[in-house]
Amino acid sequence: MGESANGLVNRPILASIHTAAFQHNLNRVRELAPESKIWSVIKARAYGHCFEAALKGLASTDGFALLDIQDAAWLREQGWQGRILLLEGFFHENELNRADELSCDLVVHCDAQVEWLERFRGKNPKPFNVFLKMNTGMNRLGFKPAEYRTAFHRLHSAGYHMHHMTHFANADQVDQLPTVGAQQELFNETIAGLAGSTSLANSAAILWHRNALGDWVRPGIMLYGASPTGLHADIEHANLQAVMHLHSEIIDIQELQKGDRIGYGGRYEATGAMRIGIVACGYADGYPRHAQDGTPVWVAADDQGVICPLVGRVSMDMLAIDLRDAPHAKIGSVVQLWGDKVPVDVVAQMSDTIGYELLCAVAPRVPVEIK
Ligand SMILES: Cc1ncc(COP(=O)(O)O)c(C=O)c1O
Repeated sequence: MGESANGLVNRPILASIHTAAFQHNLNRVRELAPESKIWSVIKARAYGHCFEAALKGLASTDGFALLDIQDAAWLREQGWQGRILLLEGFFHENELNRADELSCDLVVHCDAQVEWLERFRGKNPKPFNVFLKMNTGMNRLGFKPAEYRTAFHRLHSAGYHMHHMTHFANADQVDQLPTVGAQQELFNETIAGLAGSTSLANSAAILWHRNALGDWVRPGIMLYGASPTGLHADIEHANLQAVMHLHSEIIDIQELQKGDRIGYGGRYEATGAMRIGIVACGYADGYPRHAQDGTPVWVAADDQGVICPLVGRVSMDMLAIDLRDAPHAKIGSVVQLWGDKVPVDVVAQMSDTIGYELLCAVAPRVPVEIK
């Protein structure tokens, strides 16, 4: 594990990105939304999985949705000729030329962007596709319904190809306000009679609100094999595969006696004799410092491996696991922190967060292998 370009073996931590799992999850989106085109959402370095892997694994998507224009440029340099949607449009007027050269589609969510587009004279003979964003209750980005049609007509008159978009606040919850139904109704009422395709659904809507999909769906987290709710149980039957497998190794073993304590703060106290393994992974790698005792870590064995619970506070570069159920474990034994054996959502839940945050926060120092 972890051999570097100069042939030296690195610290044994590795994020393996399984492109076949990307493809599988994309196929699941197609099955669930067969009538819709797919914007694969790859913002935040493809939720921490790296753009290169996403481009390889999601090559059959209809388009990529992301935030930064330099990431769009990178996709074009790699030869991606399909659609690219800038999810927050452009942040400054001077980005428009570049977005135009790169043939990006734009989300437009505020009046300043409308004004910039009205005075923009691009070189590209094909004007931008604009996904005009409506704020139907999430109150993050977008035009209120009362302002939406004016913005639509202004950009339409300026010659842009207009489409409609909104984002759900609660597609992963039941009856939480604003509901998907209420947001969808407002959206449909507001765009009545206007031309253009629609884009509404994130992963949660694709999984659980299939009457609210629209012409273009925008899956993110489900493409990475994690849960929109943060709870693994909610996607257990959704037939998704974990794309990132975060592995490391045991680099030391300690024999403890009853009453011995582990790590900073001595949070965990041994209740009897026990063997613990020290794993080369800590919060500086992106493993959550708040992970509780008992968070599962998988340790490889000759047969199928065994889950060993985390014991003690996670430190910067290391964490400790209880090896009482893994008598075979030794220095060099491979462990999985999350992936196909340990859902990232389970680690997240034990750390009071969601899988999204853990995946996006994998540190740059963790080597990535694209499989
Ligand atoms: C506008 C928009 N659409 C789609 C997505 C994808 O959401 P998810 O990862 O929950 O599928 C996001 C992510 O936050 C988003 O901001």
